[in-house]
Amino acid sequence: MTTQELQDLLGSMSLEEKVNQMNQLAGGFFAGDVVAMGPLQEMGVPEESVRLTGSVLGALGAETVKKIQKNFLENQPHRIPLLFMLDVINGFKTIFPIPLGQGATFEPELSRRCAQAAAKEAAVSGLHVTFAPMVDLVRDARWGRVMESTGEDPYLNCLFSRAMVEGFQGDDIKEPYRVAACVKHFAGYGAPTAGRDYNTVELSEHTLREFYLPSYRAGVDAGAAMVMTSFNTIDGVPATANRWLMRDVLRGEMGFDGVLISDWAAIEETIYHGLCADRREAARRAAEAGVDIDMMTGIYSEHLCALVREGVVPEALIDEAALRILTLKNKLGLFENPYKDADEEKEKEVILCAAHRELAREAAAKSFVLLKNEGVLPLAKGKKTAFIGPYADNPRMLGSWSFIGSPEDVVTVRQAVSEWDESAVFCEGSPLLGPDVKLEGFMERPAETDGAPAKEKERSAEEMLAEAVAAAAEAETVVLMIGEHYLQSGEATSNANIQIPQIQMELFEKVCEVNEQVVVVLFTGRPLDIRRISEKAKAVLVVWMPGTEGGHAIVDVLSGAVSPTGKLPMSFPYCVGQVPVHYNEYSTGRPHVPGKDKDRFRSKYLDIPNGPLYPFGFGMGYTRFSVSPVETDRTRMTAGECIHVSVRVKNVGDLPGTETVQLYIRDIAASVVRPVRELKQFQKVALAPGEEREVVFTVTNEDLCFLTADGRWESEPGEFEVSAGTDSTTVNSARFVLAE
Ligand code: BGC
Repeated sequence: MTTQELQDLLGSMSLEEKVNQMNQLAGGFFAGDVVAMGPLQEMGVPEESVRLTGSVLGALGAETVKKIQKNFLENQPHRIPLLFMLDVINGFKTIFPIPLGQGATFEPELSRRCAQAAAKEAAVSGLHVTFAPMVDLVRDARWGRVMESTGEDPYLNCLFSRAMVEGFQGDDIKEPYRVAACVKHFAGYGAPTAGRDYNTVELSEHTLREFYLPSYRAGVDAGAAMVMTSFNTIDGVPATANRWLMRDVLRGEMGFDGVLISDWAAIEETIYHGLCADRREAARRAAEAGVDIDMMTGIYSEHLCALVREGVVPEALIDEAALRILTLKNKLGLFENPYKDADEEKEKEVILCAAHRELAREAAAKSFVLLKNEGVLPLAKGKKTAFIGPYADNPRMLGSWSFIGSPEDVVTVRQAVSEWDESAVFCEGSPLLGPDVKLEGFMERPAETDGAPAKEKERSAEEMLAEAVAAAAEAETVVLMIGEHYLQSGEATSNANIQIPQIQMELFEKVCEVNEQVVVVLFTGRPLDIRRISEKAKAVLVVWMPGTEGGHAIVDVLSGAVSPTGKLPMSFPYCVGQVPVHYNEYSTGRPHVPGKDKDRFRSKYLDIPNGPLYPFGFGMGYTRFSVSPVETDRTRMTAGECIHVSVRVKNVGDLPGTETVQLYIRDIAASVVRPVRELKQFQKVALAPGEEREVVFTVTNEDLCFLTADGRWESEPGEFEVSAGTDSTTVNSARFVLAE
């Protein structure tokens, strides 16, 4: 449709029709044949709202979606199709590593390909919009949703935000196999106080703008069709009713002209926040803030028509929102083809196809981060290796946002090892969760999710442990596959103790008593306190929640077929008392000087180090690299010039490998306090043993810009320190001056 045709359509719609475009209902309201009246009436949703509603969350499958759309269109006065939406986060049916794992690849291009594959599977299943990417910056490992983020660094998050949006959407969402992306959660959702989900967010505007907003902006700049509000307050006002945030910042400053959707029930929650007295006020405030779609509360349908008729809300606000929604439908080509890519035959062909599995395997292997290796990895084939632990043969490693992915499609570690080394032995060792872990309110805590095969459940934890210890004692090397339950990270999974379940730590201790060659393969959705493991194990490999091809990818890396290349996108804290801990902290007036612990009046802890156990950007390979001192081709530049910063990187080990060389910059003095360092660029170099290569970074004025005291994003003349190395603690630095 042309813009004029869309305007004409809008002009011909009744107020009820326009308002209901702004309403989203769950798939359960629509049965294949008719509108499902049972749940409707129970929930007090009038039939008209269902007949006129604009979008659906959670109905999928080509056949179902086509049926719902067809029936719906027969009753929709203007034949305006429904939009079908769902959270397709790290994959649809082929599951890729969780976003935090994808962040560890330091390879946004790979995430673009994963998003593209996920979009294809989702599109043939009838979906039009995915609620992804989540681009919230995260610093606090107590918050379970860190698993959905790509980490603590704004620069890295921007790259991933852009890549994922482009991967889902391509150049044109009308094209086959594309879905509209929804950047979320605007804004600052990743900073809940004390890491407790849905809690208040307290950020200065400076910190919000400098660290948290850039990744949303990157997604908007990449053309994201949709943005989702966040549950939290910003400066005391819930984001979902925050006019300043939505109208001035998102629409005004960032130029977002797509559809803004509330998070689940977030409009209603403005009442519980204590901002709005009732549903009517909530409807008014959210509409005034510019929220186009109400996810799941029916508040807009209930109140907006009356509010308009009473002259409280101008109809122009409704027109604006409805037009944006119609425009999105038009951009997806739904007026011409309301079924878009929904296709039962294509579902069979595309979903879990060999190419997607191959990509999942590649992405998973690249997401793994080797934190320690005292010569035990890679494993030697045929050398009496025991794979022990609740993840040794457990398909539930997809992450908690992969509810379409099925464990039946997952390649477990045991299956993959058996293809590689028939002599390996396996035992479960312990249940995933002991009585210390509370998962109250989770529908699935029962045994079916603890990973234990049915027959194992009849055995006591003592028997499992005894069997594991016996196997460990006989083995040359033990690979201990332990970690969080997949439901322990995700939405509403805040944890004050960020540790591996106690029952698995007991297994670890007992195994270490009988075998010194212990490799820990750690499954987790978040950074954990792994001091004990790091101290005792000979090697530690973080595999996050690796996805459908997790087993193959783990064996690829353990066997040495693939060398680990992942780098931490989020610091692993020394202990929970240190969080939020992140590498790019602001300078203080009393910085701690390493080695001068007796200098008492410094910003430091008495009982633990300041630095995390493993810092941002850290990750080893199977070989070693040396990095030469930083060189710059000049020591002064003006804003229009650039400086070339170079290091020579050499593979000084015996195996080929890839290193990610990272460039950090510190502004020595500025109109506002600057972070001690900030990642500005990185490059991956693949080197054969003995090979050396020069890595050159071009530093331009753009790398020196920040939010100044005047509120402008620009650089200020003065001195800068530039560092290059293999993680965020590198002290390999040089200085240069930005001249006026
Ligand atoms: C989450 C969103 C998600 C939405 C729909 C909410 O609870 O916060 O991230 O997109 O549900 O599933």
